[in-house]
Amino acid sequence: MCGIIGFSGREQAAPILLDGLARMEYRGYDSAGIAVRAETCGLQVKKTKGRLQVLSTLTHGGADLEGTLGIGHTRWATHGEPNDINAHPHVSENGQIALVHNGIIENYLEIKEHLQKQGVTFTSDTDSEVVAQLLEFHYNECGSMLEAVGRVLRRIEGSYAFGIICSDYPNALIAARKDSPLILGYGENGNFIASDVTAVIKYTRDVAYMDDGEIAVVTPETIDVFDSELMPREKEHHQIDWDVSAAEKGGYAHFMFKEIMEQPEAIRKTVSPRIREGRVVLDDISLTAEYVKGISRIFVIACGSSYHVGMVSKYNWEHLLRRPVEVCLASEFRYSDPLVDESTLVLVISQSGETLDTMAAMREARRRGGRTLAIVNVVGSSIAREADDVLYTWAGPEIAVATTKAYSTQLVLMDLVGLYLADLLGTVSREEYDAVLAEMQALPEKMQRVLENFEDVQYFASRYFNHNSIFFIGRNLDYAMGLEGSLKLKEISYIHSEAYASGELKHGTISLIEPGTLVVALGTFAPLFDKAMSNVVEVKARGAEVLAVTTEMFREKMEKTANSTVVIPDTHPVLQPSLGVVPLQLFAYYVALQRGCDIDKPRNLAKSVTVE
Ligand code: G6P
Repeated sequence: MCGIIGFSGREQAAPILLDGLARMEYRGYDSAGIAVRAETCGLQVKKTKGRLQVLSTLTHGGADLEGTLGIGHTRWATHGEPNDINAHPHVSENGQIALVHNGIIENYLEIKEHLQKQGVTFTSDTDSEVVAQLLEFHYNECGSMLEAVGRVLRRIEGSYAFGIICSDYPNALIAARKDSPLILGYGENGNFIASDVTAVIKYTRDVAYMDDGEIAVVTPETIDVFDSELMPREKEHHQIDWDVSAAEKGGYAHFMFKEIMEQPEAIRKTVSPRIREGRVVLDDISLTAEYVKGISRIFVIACGSSYHVGMVSKYNWEHLLRRPVEVCLASEFRYSDPLVDESTLVLVISQSGETLDTMAAMREARRRGGRTLAIVNVVGSSIAREADDVLYTWAGPEIAVATTKAYSTQLVLMDLVGLYLADLLGTVSREEYDAVLAEMQALPEKMQRVLENFEDVQYFASRYFNHNSIFFIGRNLDYAMGLEGSLKLKEISYIHSEAYASGELKHGTISLIEPGTLVVALGTFAPLFDKAMSNVVEVKARGAEVLAVTTEMFREKMEKTANSTVVIPDTHPVLQPSLGVVPLQLFAYYVALQRGCDIDKPRNLAKSVTVE
């Protein structure tokens, strides 16, 4: 979703802005633009629909634009179609103020009408332009940009991260945030604002996270932060410890493939520090045994793949903890009048830590007295900072829109937390506890073996990539895993697919199976393997082509029935989805590759969804 960058420094701004935007391309966007202030010619704005490359060509990599102060933006359209005019930055009527915005201004129509009555003419369909025009209005009134920004923020409703420059201010850019991510970067040759740290990591590792309601004035030497009453605030600095190369392709054709391959290491990093002397140790959270014993119900709230982690965890946690676990889509939970009280533990899962629906759902849960524990990948993100407790997945930066390593690390971390809580509750036997932990430690190596067989999956993808409709079927954990396999395929290959609980097929969906329909049959969950096989036989009998995923233990049985079989190592059932999902990720990847899709930046999707 929209990416913002701003720079005020001692170097030419435009190439830096373009570089920063390029590093945020993964967020998903449909147009891009930059505005730079130059001594000789005031504000210069270049913006265009389409890929950043177009903007870069238009400005010769930014070389055409003089000036050391500027803002840049990649837009993911909400109000108004993606075109050159609706692209950001938006400039106020007198050409003095340029603004970039991420978020949605909910009362923009009312403000627009008010300004139109004052004679202001609008050029775009966006809510963001309204803010640029309103700023000009208040700036003309009070003569101070900071004061004008303060007045505007009091007037607008909705979510925003803003970057603003004004031709009267040769060195200063102004930033503000509410419910949309924005970080401050302290560099040697100048200072930054950005939607995320990937945009600035090449220039600085010294960052601060803006909080809701804050306004920042950024100059080449200083960053001054104010609260909504314009009172100065101190910011805590954080050092980013990952390497620039972690956010680069490093020889791989796509970030997605690189990230699939990084999964064993990411799991190792997430798990190892949390197992000591055969016990799960979660130093970073403060849930007491007394609190855990009083938990009456558990919610998992999340969106997209993170929600699918919740679906797997429901089976695992109910098995281990013997407590009811409800998995809710964050966008539904927040408006559902949920049954949350002090005895409710609410797990919030989010790679980015910025998904607006998830954050709003978390706030709703807290408002009702629930205790929130967030599983987040991005350090310092909004959800991480607002939750009662946070556990980080140490997957490193994930760039491909379709998540893989974040999903896998969320999954094992949820398994670890499940074990930890079950141990406190006394609901897991010592044998099972030890067995899951031992297998958890063996997981990276077993996953490596699955990855080494990537060519099998590549071959099956080349056989099946022409199908237009694909079903994923399985029972229990296999069903939950199928949800993720199906989503991966939809996201990047644009093939319609559905995941079904095998036992439910006969209640409707089996009518869609006809000769040649591709069914991906998941038979990795040992306790229900025979039942799952009956369903495979049922679809075969109706002419389906079956691509199966199963474990070593069931290889023979499956190979007798399925047309094609991918075999993965056996592990404890709780962890089987962690291995089983890998061929599904690879399948989606290779199918998309065969179909010539834009794998890392699929159409219409954004990595970090910061609007409702
Ligand atoms: C977007 C991404 C998905 C992701 C979902 C939730 O839709 O494209 O890959 O699963 O958001 O994101 P989160 O950062 O909250 O896990």
